[in-house]
Amino acid sequence: MTERVAVYPGSFDPVTRGHEDIVRRALGFVDRVIVAVAHRRTQPKTGMFEIAERVDLIRTVFGDEPRVTATDFNGLLVDFARDNQVHIIIRGLRAVSDFEYEFQMALMNRQLYPEVETIFLAPDEHYSYLSASLVREIAALGGDIAQFVSPHVLEALRRKLSLPS
Ligand code: PNS
Repeated sequence: MTERVAVYPGSFDPVTRGHEDIVRRALGFVDRVIVAVAHRRTQPKTGMFEIAERVDLIRTVFGDEPRVTATDFNGLLVDFARDNQVHIIIRGLRAVSDFEYEFQMALMNRQLYPEVETIFLAPDEHYSYLSASLVREIAALGGDIAQFVSPHVLEALRRKLSLPS
């Protein structure tokens, strides 16, 4: 039987418990998930962690899960998917406010690469309000983010922000 592989693309700046939840849900119906960090050039946002640091954090967080790999990609997501023979894109939908942008991307990606399907997953409701940008902001302002990220990511954020551990 052919292996069912999905790509889970995003900024992952940094990877949060919400991302982890989506990956573990995806593993319920695919054999492998490639977590793919988009290069800055391909996104409107500026970031905190370097792309290689984000990939490293994802690898560490999923160190116990051999069915998850992490990498970065430059350029179009559909080109990455085509090059890696991936036909499933996973995206998390936290709230209705995510929907418009996600729906537009899904349809555009399908237009560019008809063999790809986007599957939207709802996170655990405890993570529906969670975003990497809020985690960065709260951490930078001295708030407690321990429940929102894994201990490795927490430590990396503290180092990045020169906060005591
Ligand atoms: O976590 P994010 O920032 O919401 O992820 C957005 C991401 C990286 C999935 C999106 O910007 C993307 O796919 N970028 C790659 C470039 C691309 O393919 N753009 C066309 C999208 S239709």
